[in-house]
Amino acid sequence: MSKNRNSRRSFIANTAATTGLIAASSFAPTRFAIGATSKIKVGILLPYSGTYAMLGNSITNAMKMRIEQAGGRMGGRLVEYVALDSEMSVPKAPQNTNKLIKKEKVNFLVGPVHSGIAAAMAKIMGQRKSPIMIVPNAGSNAVTGPLCAPNIFRTSFSNWQPAFPGGVLMGKEGHKTCVTISWKYGAGIQMMDAGRNGFMTKGGKSIKDILLPFPNVEFQAHLSEIAALKPDCVFAFFSGGGAIKFLKDYEAAGLKNKIPLYGPGFLTEGIEKAAGSAAEGIKTTLHYASNLDNPENHKFRTNYKTAFNTDPNVFSVQGYDTGSLLLQASAAVGGDVESVVDVIEAMETSRVPDSPRGPWSMSKAHNPIQNIYLRQVEGGQQKFLGVAAKDLADPAAGCKMT
Ligand code: PHB
Repeated sequence: MSKNRNSRRSFIANTAATTGLIAASSFAPTRFAIGATSKIKVGILLPYSGTYAMLGNSITNAMKMRIEQAGGRMGGRLVEYVALDSEMSVPKAPQNTNKLIKKEKVNFLVGPVHSGIAAAMAKIMGQRKSPIMIVPNAGSNAVTGPLCAPNIFRTSFSNWQPAFPGGVLMGKEGHKTCVTISWKYGAGIQMMDAGRNGFMTKGGKSIKDILLPFPNVEFQAHLSEIAALKPDCVFAFFSGGGAIKFLKDYEAAGLKNKIPLYGPGFLTEGIEKAAGSAAEGIKTTLHYASNLDNPENHKFRTNYKTAFNTDPNVFSVQGYDTGSLLLQASAAVGGDVESVVDVIEAMETSRVPDSPRGPWSMSKAHNPIQNIYLRQVEGGQQKFLGVAAKDLADPAAGCKMT
């Protein structure tokens, strides 16, 4: 390791907890001083249309809010955003990714929401040393597993993390059989597997796994089948617009009070009010609950509501923490974000002590080590019931960081 890198390392250690201008002004290598006037470019590839539009907007709003709160600068430099609608299209993902990397020449690439797009992007990123990609939602296990790479970080979760404790919960609540139901793509399949495996640790068994094409919302025939199978409970992953439709159809089919629904918290997240009575009472597991009692969460919720006239959700928290990570790492290198190796080093040692979800840290595979909470929808809010899994790290099977 070079002398320069060593001294940078100790600099990072000293400033890792700070963000903003103090760190920036105390460190300005000559090479960087030349480019210091240029803006830092943040490329964004998120869904702004279709079933996940609410997720993309929540992430974008909160990330920008966080950076705005720091004066709109990262490491002393102004920030410019270039956002593309992913349209949740896996075939378009390589073209969109390359557009942001090669044409827009972004320093950071923030995205996506969808696991299939995440895997496509990770394959491109893994062939390159820069830019640095930050995944603010998509849970694809592979992205911090076999496809992990030094320049890929995640501020959200792996699909396994919130789903496995959801399956354990069903067993703890005394259920013996379940039906699992989801969309047939990376996230749906991985969360279904994790939920089923969690349930099995408590002696539970899935009697039928139902997969629908993404983002299909024709649930009727499947709900009739569930009614006929009479499992003790149902484990489901849907999210955004599709989750609203599923919850409403489940209630309308008369199943809500007969066969309890469980799942990773996305099933009810951010749609509590839109789903109304169809979401009330549902218990899920996730890395956030609206009423977590920490000062950052109170501040975050008030600021978000004031800025956007709507309540934040886990997706906004992930966007907010993406902003925090960008600020922290940019400050640690004194704004010299072109020094990608040093930014990576700063991100690897980052702690996000001031997250609304509670403190979390970055695993060796670049995925959050975080609490998973048990929550229940009550009066249109996610109420915290307890910690389902403390400091849960993804197993990161197959990740070899080179
Ligand atoms: C994903 O595709 O990884 C995904 C999408 C929506 C969610 C969670 C995960 O709410």
